[in-house]
Amino acid sequence: ALITLRQMLDHAADQGYGVPAFNINNMEQGLAIVQAAAECDAPVILQASRGARSYAGDIMLRHMVAALAEMFPAIPICMHQDHGNNEATCMSAIGHGFTSVMMDGSLEADMKTPASYDYNVTITERVSRMAHWVGASVEGELGVLGSLETGEAAAEDGSGAEGKLDHSQLLTDPDQAADFVRKTKVDALAIACGTSHGAYKFSRKPDGEILAMGVIEAIHAKLPDTHLVMHGSSSVPQELQDIINAFGGEMPQTFGVPLEEIVRGIRMGVRKVNIDTDCRMAMAGQFRRVATQSPREFDPRKFLIPAMDALRDLCRTRFEAFGTAGQA
Ligand code: G3H
Ligand code: 13P
Ligand code: NA
Ligand code: ZN
Repeated sequence: ALITLRQMLDHAADQGYGVPAFNINNMEQGLAIVQAAAECDAPVILQASRGARSYAGDIMLRHMVAALAEMFPAIPICMHQDHGNNEATCMSAIGHGFTSVMMDGSLEADMKTPASYDYNVTITERVSRMAHWVGASVEGELGVLGSLETGEAAAEDGSGAEGKLDHSQLLTDPDQAADFVRKTKVDALAIACGTSHGAYKFSRKPDGEILAMGVIEAIHAKLPDTHLVMHGSSSVPQELQDIINAFGGEMPQTFGVPLEEIVRGIRMGVRKVNIDTDCRMAMAGQFRRVATQSPREFDPRKFLIPAMDALRDLCRTRFEAFGTAGQA
């Protein structure tokens, strides 16, 4: 059944587990993810970026999610807008059956200036009020996704270079988080703790210096009833890098967020864990393998079936690690 983010994460908080939010763009990703959820008896968050909505089309996405809910009636599914940029994006998502939206007012407000903070509060509060009128949930974001290692802010909108920032400019401030949630009434809050989007997060396995898990603990202490969200939570597994590179890929060595750090975050109030890059890598590795090993192959299903198998395996490991398995 389709449920809201609030319903799903209230249960997760009550039982002390985290829910992975996997990005979807097409039928194969949707099927593999929800099949994995069904195999694990796990609730799941499907999320579509603005890019996903323009790729598949809102009508296609709406019917796909309805089909998945009909195919797997025992699995709680939340359909969420990832990184909504304004009121129109969020309200049109709800109009197309999304049960939850992210209003990312930090997209336009990467620097912690008073004006950008006020903008974030104002637009997020407005979306929160409208979404709650119609029973949908809202995720807000405070802070800058970016690497504490390099001081590089992540280009969340794909627009490219940002300047170097020091740690305090990147990380979410706990007092500001408390003020933000009080003013906006969001159901969930995305925080910045040193992760970034994409495959190239860290040049070594991150330690406490470059992954500031203490921030999560401090925010949770001030906001025990707010569900925390970790973006940029792909682990970028070595074995997926190896498969891609064994079959013609040229991914430089990189490190993601170790699973044990995410599990630590879940113990400190993280309830939604955003994962896209790992899913892309799982599928892309199989596309490369089939293309290399079977150069005469041209049936798309011969590429997509192993890709879905790899994605399903990946999702299963996340449901097991985050305690989501068995909670549906
Ligand atoms: O946060 C970004 C997600 O990985 C979605 O990426 O905008 O390329 O669909 P996308
Ligand atoms: P990754 O790039 O680490 O998978 O993060 C995805 C994300 O945060 C989507 O909002
Ligand atoms: Na941000
Ligand atoms: Zn994100």
